Amino acid sequence: MSNLQSFSDDDLGGAHGPNRVVLLYGGRSSEHAISCVSAAAVLRALDHQRWDVLAVGITPAGQWLLTSADPDQIAPAGVSLPSVQSGEPVVLMPGDDGAHLFKVEEHLSQDLGLVDVVFPLLHGPWGEDGSVQGLLETMHVGFVGSGVLSSAIAMDKAAMKMALSAHGIPVGPYEVVHDGEWRLGPSRVAARLEFALELPVFVKPARAGSSIGISKVNQWHELEQAMELARLHDPKVIVEQSVPGREIECGVLGAPRDQRAKASALAEIVLSPDREFYDFESKYLNDAATLVVPADLPPESAEQIRDIAVRSFEALECEGLARVDFFLADNGSIVVNEVNTMPGFTPTSMYPRMWAEFGVQYSALIDTLLELALNRERGLR
Ligand SMILES: Nc1ncnc2c1ncn2[C@@H]1O[C@H](COP(=O)(O)OP(=O)(O)O)[C@@H](O)[C@H]1O
Ligand SMILES: [Mg+2]
Repeated sequence: MSNLQSFSDDDLGGAHGPNRVVLLYGGRSSEHAISCVSAAAVLRALDHQRWDVLAVGITPAGQWLLTSADPDQIAPAGVSLPSVQSGEPVVLMPGDDGAHLFKVEEHLSQDLGLVDVVFPLLHGPWGEDGSVQGLLETMHVGFVGSGVLSSAIAMDKAAMKMALSAHGIPVGPYEVVHDGEWRLGPSRVAARLEFALELPVFVKPARAGSSIGISKVNQWHELEQAMELARLHDPKVIVEQSVPGREIECGVLGAPRDQRAKASALAEIVLSPDREFYDFESKYLNDAATLVVPADLPPESAEQIRDIAVRSFEALECEGLARVDFFLADNGSIVVNEVNTMPGFTPTSMYPRMWAEFGVQYSALIDTLLELALNRERGLR
């Protein structure tokens, strides 16, 4: 049964003619390739009668290009890590008319027409972290997903955990290590962490994703190396006590104003025994992880997790979509690991699969997100 049945056509803006969508993909983060794969999948599934799409790819160096909207060019078959290649027309930032957002360098006198909504299908820093959302706000255009503050808080694992605990939402024990403190005295930091946390711990860049830069530390003498790896990605590092247990995820879909967001079916990530944790390789490159949808859980635990997922979404003031990731600890407690405001979005990614389990198909999910974005408030929020 679709959980979207309570959204009426009016809530979602009713039927429109083709609306112009800018699909923004690629980007400067280390999750560039994942974004390209998600973008190709969205282009394949999108109802092109209803949505007139421009594909704007951001190269790893940060250049915005008007690319082909052909999914087979964006993510060619057999290429596991596709990327946006330079050589396409450069997209310029808007002039004084915010509605006519994008111009291409070769045709300065012409803009690309009215843009109704932007889908920033970008993962990680400079995309999912409020920076692009801020740019879109200054352009006064509607966009899919969370706004500036919410995106920024969710991207920063330390800020996120602080905000969630302030709302009474359970998170595991953690410590933050700032750049200056580490540079002044790694041994003092180590002493503080050893006092505050029990082994094993996870050392993570505060603002990254796809497990990039994360290490599991089983002995304190491994800390320094793990810190240096995390610091390659972010000078701000979070060190978390390991929560032994099961990994459960829940999709949340925003609702029109005055309605509560909805929680999807739950999924479990089951790792093969040779994996220490859900790292980049097991996420994207091999079969080390199995995604079980729906997760096999006692109904009361499942309801509790779905409720905490919606409360986390509301606590961070998310919009549109988010995937809330949990640990169901061996001792029975439930803690939130993280909130992703632009989760992986291919049809086989967790977020769409969890909604499909509730009868919401991939293309309907995209329609709903675009409709919500068309109707959201603009301006400072
Ligand atoms: N505190 C923890 N306890 C147990 N496992 C953890 C913990 N933190 C991270 N992990 C493992 O590392 C993976 C990646 O960590 P996560 O915080 O989700 O980073 P990312 O944002 O890169 O996905 C998790 O999916 C989980 O397998
Ligand atoms: Mg994660």
